[in-house]
Amino acid sequence: MSATRPLIRPMTETDVPRLADMRAGFVSPTALQVEQTGSGTEVGWRLVERALPVPFDKGHGYDFDARERANVLARLRQGDGLHLVVESEGRIVGVLDVTPRHWNDTAWVWNIMLDQGVRRQGLGSELFTRAATWARGQGYRALVLETQSNNVPACKFYVRMGCELDGIRCAYYTNRDVARGEVALFWVYKLV
Ligand SMILES: CC(C)(COP(=O)(O)OP(=O)(O)OC[C@H]1O[C@@H](n2cnc3c(N)ncnc32)[C@H](O)[C@@H]1OP(=O)(O)O)[C@@H](O)C(=O)NCCC(=O)NCCS
Repeated sequence: MSATRPLIRPMTETDVPRLADMRAGFVSPTALQVEQTGSGTEVGWRLVERALPVPFDKGHGYDFDARERANVLARLRQGDGLHLVVESEGRIVGVLDVTPRHWNDTAWVWNIMLDQGVRRQGLGSELFTRAATWARGQGYRALVLETQSNNVPACKFYVRMGCELDGIRCAYYTNRDVARGEVALFWVYKLV
């Protein structure tokens, strides 16, 4: 007997504590290294995918801890975004969490995450498409989001969805992001 397809539905407040059960981490055997050329006002950056000596393991770094769950709840209560969960066999196995940025007419994707057990089944694509359809319907000009240069699976997913790299920030997390191999990458999905 085949398993029931996970259900995508609007998030409710009672879902938020259950986000703690999601296994949102990932392992990547490669990373996108940032190479910088030039100096002063004439600088260039490029990303090069390189194999790592030891795969990068995000571990519990994407877990929905108490602070993150409080942030999700606050955004849900704001009432002007798109908040969906994916439910399978009584567990929350996915989340989409998007809110508007009125000042620049865009929508920011805070979270698009699937549990490790339900990846590569098209659920991420479905959540992304729902986010884009919603944002277009609201009249926003783009979806914008951030991920890290060591999250190569997510970078490839965003490229596949049609996102374009819109910025590289080399001191976003610490003053040594390039040396640490974790650099903030900003992506845009243009809607108009
Ligand atoms: C990124 C993520 C949301 C993708 O969700 P998903 O349901 O697995 O993605 P889909 O099955 O819809 O994949 C669509 C396409 O994206 C690309 N893709 C997805 N995962 C990939 C991976 N691990 N490596 C390479 N390409 C990948 C592929 O082109 C895939 O199409 P294919 O399966 O036909 O080859 C999911 O991997 C995830 O939750 N990761 C951990 C949390 C995370 O990093 N979220 C983003 C934080 S910024």
